[in-house]
Amino acid sequence: MVKTLGVLTSGGDCAGLNAVIRAVTTHAIRHYGWRVVGILDGTLGLMERPLRTRELTLNSVDDRALREGGTLLGTTTKGDPFAFRMPDGSVRDRSADFAEGVRETGLDALIVIGGDGSMRISARLCAEAGIGMVGVPKTIDNDVHGTEYAVGFATAINVVVDALDRLQPTAASHHRVMILETMGRDTGHIALNGGIAGGADVILIPELPYTLQAVAARINEVLTHNRPHALVVIAEGVRTMEGVAVRAGHKGGPGLVGSYGGIGHYLAEAITDLTGAETRVTILGHVQRGGTPSPRDRLVASSFGVHAVRLVAEGKVNRMVAWQNRSVVDVPLSEVTIGARSLSVDDPLILTARGLGIYVGEMMGA
Ligand code: F6P
Repeated sequence: MVKTLGVLTSGGDCAGLNAVIRAVTTHAIRHYGWRVVGILDGTLGLMERPLRTRELTLNSVDDRALREGGTLLGTTTKGDPFAFRMPDGSVRDRSADFAEGVRETGLDALIVIGGDGSMRISARLCAEAGIGMVGVPKTIDNDVHGTEYAVGFATAINVVVDALDRLQPTAASHHRVMILETMGRDTGHIALNGGIAGGADVILIPELPYTLQAVAARINEVLTHNRPHALVVIAEGVRTMEGVAVRAGHKGGPGLVGSYGGIGHYLAEAITDLTGAETRVTILGHVQRGGTPSPRDRLVASSFGVHAVRLVAEGKVNRMVAWQNRSVVDVPLSEVTIGARSLSVDDPLILTARGLGIYVGEMMGA
């Protein structure tokens, strides 16, 4: 019998996390009468002393949570407890601190709302701590295996489409080529979905090779035959022709290699050189992660939260809830913790883009 259920958010935030927390809390308390404990700042809340947790009640997670971006529990991208970077720069395995934190909090099971990296780390942590885990996929990148949707993706697409809707009139007014750089890490789900829905003429994604000549040819075609402006979407993980990943420097934080950021400027320069067109670059950045969750994200988040609690109640742990063929299902964690889910080169949306005349990169195997 599960009595105390933990819930945490891990990795980069996105819209819809609070909607998941609300659904988990509501269903666990109302339907099963369990106690729900929120863990603050991802795994850190259970590793630090004093423990950092927050009792979740029907009143503390009310209908406002459905509408709010971010995560009321806080999150971290620093916390691999198996290789934890200490303030003095040394790296330590702190998984035992996490297991001890689980025992001290009295958790019987843990719901982890995270991306593929968080699923992998948390699955191992929970196994070592001796509790069952259920994962809820979230990431604007939508690159978690086993699910068609991760929480946060739909809202990010809305942001991209809104940006293109705003860039189109200014592109048209000034006869410019506007380049919009999206997030997505090593995958092009955001760029492809947002680019098609927002009417882009060129969409570049990390999964498909491209040539600058082909980009220029498509833009010249648009400028010559259709209209004196064009829209280009490029995913941040696209590399230069020399295979270099463009990264943005960050101040503070974990001092990692830095996130992607800036490939849009490389492309803009090449487009101007090859076509003579005037270009401007917009790097969308973290606005894709914030804001009010879209209705689809609220629906996915609510369905995921309820299903995750049900799985715990039925003892079906070490699984991740997933969205497949318009319903909520669940899949073994072992099937999803295998790295990021890239776009397949014959993804139906790639075929749609080509059918619309959008240049999305070279045909593979052609
Ligand atoms: O994984 C989500 C994401 O927003 C990526 O799209 C992006 O590359 C990265 O996180 C940015 O990370 P940070 O918030 O650490 O800059």
